[in-house]
Amino acid sequence: MRPLAVTQFLGLISLTVAMDNGLLKTPPMGWMAWERFRCDVDCHDDPENCISEDLFRDMADRLVEDGWRELGYEYVIIDDCWMSKLRDEQGRLQPEPTRFPGGIAKLARYIHDRGLKLGIYADMGTLTCMGFPGTTLDKIEIDAQTFATWGVDYLKFDGCYSNPVEQMLGYPLMSKALNATGRLMAYSCSWPAYLGGLPPEVNYTLLGDICHLWRNYDDIQDSWDSVQGIIDWFSNNQDHLQPAAGPGRWNDPDMLIIGNFGLSVDQAHSQMALWAIMAAPLIMSNDLRNLDNRARAILQNKVVIAINQDPLGIQGRRLLQERNRIEVYWRPLSQSASTLVFLSRRTDMPYLYHTSLAKLNYEAGNYEAYDVFTGSTVTGLNATTEIVLSINPSGVVMWYIYPEQSKQTETLHYQHKKTSRFTFL
Ligand code: GLA
Repeated sequence: MRPLAVTQFLGLISLTVAMDNGLLKTPPMGWMAWERFRCDVDCHDDPENCISEDLFRDMADRLVEDGWRELGYEYVIIDDCWMSKLRDEQGRLQPEPTRFPGGIAKLARYIHDRGLKLGIYADMGTLTCMGFPGTTLDKIEIDAQTFATWGVDYLKFDGCYSNPVEQMLGYPLMSKALNATGRLMAYSCSWPAYLGGLPPEVNYTLLGDICHLWRNYDDIQDSWDSVQGIIDWFSNNQDHLQPAAGPGRWNDPDMLIIGNFGLSVDQAHSQMALWAIMAAPLIMSNDLRNLDNRARAILQNKVVIAINQDPLGIQGRRLLQERNRIEVYWRPLSQSASTLVFLSRRTDMPYLYHTSLAKLNYEAGNYEAYDVFTGSTVTGLNATTEIVLSINPSGVVMWYIYPEQSKQTETLHYQHKKTSRFTFL
């Protein structure tokens, strides 16, 4: 072990803050195939849903025509199961020809022509998680080069079928190899998820230097249990995770599953709200061709998107876990604003929760709050005003809070209106 550890260390020193290339100053937004479409390769019996160039073209069309792109959803990301089982004669990865007859470069052009960006999946190891060709250490350069040649804009680099020593070498090497191509590519690392997600196994400072985002924890599934498990893990470990995030370096609690089968409307509000608190990537995995209007409204809510994309890029935290099973989350935002999310973990009925801004660490002063999912504004709040909220079971109330308009704060408030990506009532 010793000599290897030294080599690794030297290898890392030679990296110059590899991924500080100006990309992803706010969390990425887009669409990814995995959670909804998995490894469906059966284009004969399931042509609409199989992993094929048609699926990605369909989703790109929807992103453009249904208003997603204008809201910031710009990445179309291919996940596992796009590859042929064999590399080509030159050792390059190639797409499975019957499902991607036009090749990835052509798909990239289609996506770029529509003002979108293309993401792709590879795996640091001997095989991808679903058994397609992996990127072993000797293949890192050629794969980075292939992706650049195709016009790829984002790489999700998974970690199945490799050990921690190989990962320690491979993830930084891929960062360097992507940089060396000269093409700007966002780099998403699954590394921490394979190391248990926490220090000392995971070095979040190093990770922030080499990756733009990283998966810390288990895969999301189409259920409220799964969403709750993720929220709990990220909150229980927030002292390690929260300081690691910032512009160009994001924790990734995994895809948004809103619009699928597992969440109620309230639970969908909760996922969206908590992903905004966590400054998480807003990467949907759903069927944009068949989305009901309520799911669409939640995913397209401009205020929650603006909160998620706040330019300060400070990840939020869980402030309180009450014995009555209400939890309070908080995230500071630019221009003296902040957001509060009140999440009910109850399973009985809407709960009347009493609190005040002072109890939630707010300083004396006058505030206004915009209720993100109802669109109403609460005025005349000061820190000690008693607040009573009705929170649905497994739902949230989400407030965007800012200093009240007054002579002193008029300019600030005006700036809010002018610079925010949404308009107040
Ligand atoms: C892992 C990842 C998932 C997905 C699958 C594909 O489980 O965590 O997000 O990419 O592999 O096989």
